[in-house]
Amino acid sequence: MEETVVEEIARLRRERNAVVLAHNYCRGEVQEIADFTGDSLELARRAAGVDADVIVFCGVYFMAETAAIVNPGKVVLVPDATAGCPMADMITGEQLRDLKAKHPGALAVCYVNSTAEVKAECDICVTSGNAERVMSSLPEGREILFVPDRHLGSHIASKLGKSYVLWPGYCPTHARLTGLKVAEARAAHPGAPVLVHPECAKDVRDAADERLSTGGMCAYARESQAKEIVVGTEVGILHRLRKENPGKAFWPVDEDAVCPNMKKATLEKVLACLRDMSPAVSVPAEIAVPARRAIDAMLAV
Ligand code: 13P
Ligand code: SF4
Repeated sequence: MEETVVEEIARLRRERNAVVLAHNYCRGEVQEIADFTGDSLELARRAAGVDADVIVFCGVYFMAETAAIVNPGKVVLVPDATAGCPMADMITGEQLRDLKAKHPGALAVCYVNSTAEVKAECDICVTSGNAERVMSSLPEGREILFVPDRHLGSHIASKLGKSYVLWPGYCPTHARLTGLKVAEARAAHPGAPVLVHPECAKDVRDAADERLSTGGMCAYARESQAKEIVVGTEVGILHRLRKENPGKAFWPVDEDAVCPNMKKATLEKVLACLRDMSPAVSVPAEIAVPARRAIDAMLAV
């Protein structure tokens, strides 16, 4: 009998000694075959500890690049090398070098949603899961440049009572969400807590009960007594929330909040990259080494 796609992935995964990591926004069927599904921070930590020979990274390119940087001895395969993050592409290494030149002595901090070239220019990285902790660990009295997400940057600045120089980047998927949509979701599901991602604009963050990374949302859903929860982020997370919490209902603030790049990893493409052992992520050492310093500084906090 002919092997199914899922069976062939399982066989090749064994033969190649590979693990499959997937982000919480990936297609449900991809999350189902993954060895581990998580948020950016959990995936970076998991990737650093992989001792299999091959990592198939389902998510967007900067996440796979991060995996390759923190675990340089491994082959990191991506099902679709065109799965970029538009926010990460909103600042280039050259633009950051220019910004640093205008602010001599400042610390440069990047959201992990950035290219390796940008990370290589930074003192430290943050993710939405650890931004508050990492930013509070920075020395007092230094100017701080925060790139590329102005919303995560302003969220943390206001939580910590600080002021950062913010790059005007943003996530187009989270930009779909509005305070009005949150109000409508609240009215439709009275009493349900509203969780939003800190990549959302201020009016959306202010209208919500919690501002959490996708991993934070999964933990909240597990621990909360609430039977209904409204979720303001990319809708791929609903697969995991519903699977892990069968007795609870999850409602999106906007059911069309889809990140097209996160959907590019399909089962067929996972299979193809395992068959071909390509495309593989490659980061030149002159970028990987300084980028790793910024990521390791974050992982050490
Ligand atoms: P998380 O780290 O919260 O999973 O966020 C990643 C991301 O790209 C959100 O848009
Ligand atoms: Fe980038 Fe937004 Fe997609 Fe996350 S959801 S990968 S920030 S475009």
